[in-house]
Amino acid sequence: MINPETDRVLITGAAGAIGTALRAGLRSHWRRLRLTDIRPVPDLADNEELVVADVTNRPAVEEMMRGVKAVVHLAGMVGSYTLEDLFRVNARGLFDVFESARLAGVERIVFASSNHAFGFYPITEKVSPALPPRPDTTYGVFKVWGETMLQHYFDRYGIRSVSLRIGTFRKEPIDQRSLATWLSPADVAHLVDVSLRHADPGCMVVNGYSNNTRLKTVDPNWATLGYRPKDNAEDHREALRTKGVDVDAPDRGEWEWPEHGGSFPRTPDRPPR
Ligand SMILES: NC(=O)c1ccc[n+]([C@@H]2O[C@H](COP(=O)([O-])OP(=O)(O)OC[C@H]3O[C@@H](n4cnc5c(N)ncnc54)[C@H](O)[C@@H]3O)[C@@H](O)[C@H]2O)c1
Repeated sequence: MINPETDRVLITGAAGAIGTALRAGLRSHWRRLRLTDIRPVPDLADNEELVVADVTNRPAVEEMMRGVKAVVHLAGMVGSYTLEDLFRVNARGLFDVFESARLAGVERIVFASSNHAFGFYPITEKVSPALPPRPDTTYGVFKVWGETMLQHYFDRYGIRSVSLRIGTFRKEPIDQRSLATWLSPADVAHLVDVSLRHADPGCMVVNGYSNNTRLKTVDPNWATLGYRPKDNAEDHREALRTKGVDVDAPDRGEWEWPEHGGSFPRTPDRPPR
């Protein structure tokens, strides 16, 4: 278990959307937070320290690991990127973060994986983390690679980890798909909190979703971890309807996208060089 009172936790990608939600949810009870991002992080609290650095800057990453007991690795290319940047940050940068953590004696890694690690499963199939990955993009392949690295670090070095296969993280659901895949700000903070506190998660892969009525995933690891999400995308259904979203289509068994990965399996994979 990582102790919220005494142990230092490093959060990479802390200036991003999920990093901002984690800060809001964790900083009242995690007493020693070290934040890092390539961008500045605004409005630091007394128990937050900041290191502005690129995660591919290995000496800087090794330095920021000093005195750290747990790492929450969020930093990465998301959305639009070049293939080179994807390799540099999501593969090389991920390696440098995990390897520097190992060298520094870090005991717990929580990794922002993605639903795109299993995005090619049909949406009609309830997917659990026990099934083999079916990544829908090179982005998803690197998420699986991160999970595989952590399996290796567990088997070889005994480092405990939780990989979070995050669905659609937003303040609110944004479309028909996110009625099933939404992960709310409060729930992501709760999920990271229990991933850090758990006495021994081994090397766990867990789905990162809210308590959505239309979940298309099943996950026994939620109970193992003590993850009890409170938010439900269904509570935003009427708001989505007023925005013109066909929220009744899933009741008819009609999903806009036939696979778990939404649009990803159907859009060109290779980013422009
Ligand atoms: N938002 C989602 O719905 C979602 C879904 C699945 C997985 N994820 C994963 O969660 C993580 C966080 O996502 P987010 O939505 O907060 O994205 P985001 O883009 O808002 O945040 C990512 C952060 O990483 C930082 N970053 C990028 N390259 C960096 C580098 N070379 N060095 C240091 N920092 C760098 C960015 O500055 C940014 O602040 C990502 O790894 C993403 O793949 C997010």
